[in-house]
Amino acid sequence: MTRQAEIAYEGLSKAARVRYIARMFGRVSGRYDLLNTVMTVGCHHGWRKEAAMAVAQGLQGDALDVATGTGDLALALARQPGMARVVGLDMVVEMVALARSKASRAGMGEWASFCRGDALALPFPDGAFVCVTSGFAMRNVVDVTRAVREMARVTQTGGRIAILEFVPQKTRSLVAASQRCYIQRMVPALGGLLSGEREAYSYLSRSVDGFQSAEQLAGTMEAAGLRSVRVRKLGLGAVGLLVGEKG
Ligand SMILES: C[S@@+](CC[C@H](N)C(=O)[O-])C[C@H]1O[C@@H](n2cnc3c(N)ncnc32)[C@H](O)[C@@H]1O
Repeated sequence: MTRQAEIAYEGLSKAARVRYIARMFGRVSGRYDLLNTVMTVGCHHGWRKEAAMAVAQGLQGDALDVATGTGDLALALARQPGMARVVGLDMVVEMVALARSKASRAGMGEWASFCRGDALALPFPDGAFVCVTSGFAMRNVVDVTRAVREMARVTQTGGRIAILEFVPQKTRSLVAASQRCYIQRMVPALGGLLSGEREAYSYLSRSVDGFQSAEQLAGTMEAAGLRSVRVRKLGLGAVGLLVGEKG
């Protein structure tokens, strides 16, 4: 995001921020998977698998992936033993269409379905799912507390929630400094080159810096009524995998 665009975004109302984010993800949707793979050097598939295994372990029933994008985490979840049907929800119509065609190409259309909807007002009854996930999306919702509460609301008692997210690195280590440099300089440059949307990838890199640490996010999950929240760091500390139980 240029400094001017950044100032303009900060001045927007919540409703206008939602429209801004929806338009941005609509524009990058066609290149989203390619950019994920290039920018994480393919690691995002492994991180999603870890999240899906951790959240689904030993559970049986239906699952939900919130702000599913092109559906990779929903499909990783649908591959876990015990998962019956998985729903992926996103507010951007282009993302939902890409997720649907990916599921059908993978022969998984029967187990994974996708719908348009708002993470801040999930269109499902209380306790509808045995587990609920969200990958790299909590930075992009305009009200994280409400989104996590909604995830908790639609989870059955005894079920689990997993959040996978890039988290800011506050330590002074060389690894943390290199990652900050990569996210702040390389991500916008690469994103601009490969998608033609440098501003979108500047926003994404800035959203990591301004986001909650993994420990703060665990606190947000606990405040939403989740217990035994476990925090794991992946990607040399750049990614937090948080798993909590609905008490
Ligand atoms: C960075 S992408 C992550 C997509 C996917 N979960 C993944 O792991 O790659 C963020 C997604 O959040 C979605 N999103 C942001 N705010 C949302 C909201 N309030 N309701 C539903 N989807 C939302 C965007 O449309 C976008 O697809």
